[in-house]
Amino acid sequence: MRFKKPIAQLISEQETDTKNGLRRSLGPFNLVALGIGAIVGAGIFSLTGIVASENAGPAVILSFILAGIACAFCALSYAEYASMIPVAGSAYTYTYATLGEWMAWIIGWDLVLEYALASATVAVSWSSYANKLLAQFHLSLPPQLTASPFDTVKLADGSLLEGGGIINLPAVCIVVLLSLVLAKGTRESSAFNNLLVIIKISVIVLFIALGFAFINPSNYSPFIPENTGTFGHFGWSGIVRGAAVVFFGFIGFDAVSTAAQEAKNPQKDMPIGIIGSLVVATLLYVVFAYVMTGLVPYTEFVGDASPAATAFAVTGYSFLNSALIIAILAGYTSVILVMLMGQSRVFYSMSKDGLLPAFFSDIHSRFKTPWKSNLFFLVFVGLLAGFVPISDLGHMVSIGTLFAFSLVSLGVILLRYTNPEIHRPFRVPGVPVIPALGILVCVFLMIGLPLESWIRLMIWMGIGIVFYWFYGRKHSKLRNKK
Ligand code: ALA
Repeated sequence: MRFKKPIAQLISEQETDTKNGLRRSLGPFNLVALGIGAIVGAGIFSLTGIVASENAGPAVILSFILAGIACAFCALSYAEYASMIPVAGSAYTYTYATLGEWMAWIIGWDLVLEYALASATVAVSWSSYANKLLAQFHLSLPPQLTASPFDTVKLADGSLLEGGGIINLPAVCIVVLLSLVLAKGTRESSAFNNLLVIIKISVIVLFIALGFAFINPSNYSPFIPENTGTFGHFGWSGIVRGAAVVFFGFIGFDAVSTAAQEAKNPQKDMPIGIIGSLVVATLLYVVFAYVMTGLVPYTEFVGDASPAATAFAVTGYSFLNSALIIAILAGYTSVILVMLMGQSRVFYSMSKDGLLPAFFSDIHSRFKTPWKSNLFFLVFVGLLAGFVPISDLGHMVSIGTLFAFSLVSLGVILLRYTNPEIHRPFRVPGVPVIPALGILVCVFLMIGLPLESWIRLMIWMGIGIVFYWFYGRKHSKLRNKK
């Protein structure tokens, strides 16, 4: 038998819950800011240069457009769901109502790969930029304290020491700090996020505005460099491979849906938050990539860890370098903040349903936040950020997210047939074609990921299945309802 949570029950639970639990404090502006907070980070600041130099040349702009369109298919499905089922928990909750408890568990468990691991991934990047900033004040930490034990570190005498790291301390510190901010309150976290979003967007807009005058049109020629003979190395295949890589840059619009229960008017504002933040981010990415590849030849980005700085050096505005580091730090901080928040909200919902221990849904009487969950992820994500190399984290984030996006799109199609009567304040146009395209694109991008990511996904899901078998199934409130 399939255990599905009736949608009416979800909504009434959410109403009682709002009286005793999470506070409704977020309006449409906060929700769009939350989305932009989670989306705009490592993708724009690092991946633009990597994809331009390795896959697509100036046509990285097309990679961004392609990935943006792919995400838009899924974002529309998220928006329909979020307006229809305005409760915390994101794809997990939606799946509980459509495909049943088993699949809901799978997706909730899978979302850890997206939210918790994305926080850790971006925290590791944050650490390298924080170090750069500290170095400007001659305060840099010993290299052993800024790398995981699996990383190679460059010692003071210039020699390389394989496996020479001890812990990535700045990455751990930012995770600890932001987890504490989150435990303190949603309104405070949202206000902090708004500030970070304003900083990062202002600097990006400043770069675009100042950079425009220095564009050299010859840098766009050839716009699509000829393929080298290997799939993904320039030419049209390079644009597609580039889209799969920059997909990481779009991850986060769905995090808005995890805050549905804290939205003042979720039915109306959720679609605005999800789609609005994705549209703003896509526009920023495309224009930023256009200016960046217009400033210097794309070949100059090869092996460059801070390609945006390289590009903007030609403008001669040296203050832009410090502004860039500040924008990057603000950008990464907001990504980590919103991802950590999303993670605790997903576990909150799973715990409320009895699939995880009650610990995760314990709301602080004064702060009104799932503070124990925040502290749990402080430790979990802190350990990942401190001890796991970034390359191992990144691919897991992409595969986990793509899996979640496909299930959400599938759910929208199924629910149109099984429950056509439910009021849908926002409806995806062209069902089933648009969500089906969303699924196709996600599966296509997943196929392009390395085999080891698939194996790790299987291992993680295997652990989840064992946990569900021995714990979730037995404690599920829906299953055990008399
Ligand atoms: N989209 C987020 C970033 O680019 C995860 O950092």
